[in-house]
Amino acid sequence: MTVRDMQDEINRLKKEKDICILAHAYQSHDIWEVADFVGDSFALSQKAATAPQKNVLMCGVRFMAETVKILSPEKTVILSDSSAGCPMAEQMDKELILQLKEMYPDYAVVAYINTTSELKTVCDVCVTSSSAVKIVKKLDSKNILFIPDCNLGDFVAKQIPEKNFKFVQGGCPTHLRMTLRDVEKARAAHPEALLLVHPECSPKVTEAADYAGSTTGIMDYAKESDAKEFIIGTENSIVQHLRYECPDKRFYPLSKDCVCHNMALTTLPTVLGCVRGDAGEIIELDEQVRLGAKRCIDEMLRLGD
Ligand code: 13P
Ligand code: SF4
Repeated sequence: MTVRDMQDEINRLKKEKDICILAHAYQSHDIWEVADFVGDSFALSQKAATAPQKNVLMCGVRFMAETVKILSPEKTVILSDSSAGCPMAEQMDKELILQLKEMYPDYAVVAYINTTSELKTVCDVCVTSSSAVKIVKKLDSKNILFIPDCNLGDFVAKQIPEKNFKFVQGGCPTHLRMTLRDVEKARAAHPEALLLVHPECSPKVTEAADYAGSTTGIMDYAKESDAKEFIIGTENSIVQHLRYECPDKRFYPLSKDCVCHNMALTTLPTVLGCVRGDAGEIIELDEQVRLGAKRCIDEMLRLGD
């Protein structure tokens, strides 16, 4: 089957079976083309709450599919590949957070959305890379325990110096592959290019950038900028998407090693398998866990809008 044949069949089946396909920005371009909506984690959460279809296929990683199920329990939610997890989401467990809450009772627990549903049940609010600064600023609490991504936490803390932050060791293994050495090499190779990075990168890389923001933020910045060359410091799929969207501009990866192998598990044939009903995993959540996690996500959508 050609790519076009597969896409035609996916489009036919998703209509016939009333399936909404949501794709994270790190999915490949052939998947973007069959998706009903493509976006960053925050925009996907907003869509999850409003999509009219009875069934949702999430092309991304587990916590994203869980977010859809948390917000729309009446829908059948399918994760494109059952082994597509986010390693950062597994870095902390509920017991650790409960201990930290006892140690720091006057701290609000702010959880990056890249966490398990179970962990969210003991947090106060979720944030994403595009909404974190806005949401943390709006919180009544002056004291913030930010989990699990220390790099995003550092990025947020620097923009809100009036609040006190505590972090626990954690971060994205994909974005941590990029170093200041990569920045020096890329700047030397492309002296005219602007450096755009995701705040999951280390503080040294983020501080050296011309812009830091979410996947959508990076893409919007590159599209709207008058500059013609960009070094991209996030998952390398974004380099490919930008080359499609802005063929008159040049895009270089900050590091060729910045590949999220979990996101890459989903391919166009996987999507076809999911809409046919013979691939993917139907997400089920314990109702108590769902309701506990929903509190955190509802708060994010309320404060982040
Ligand atoms: P955003 O899409 O919110 O920028 O997040 C990036 C990411 O790593 C998702 O896991
Ligand atoms: Fe998780 Fe990092 Fe992959 Fe995003 S890029 S899904 S944070 S491992």
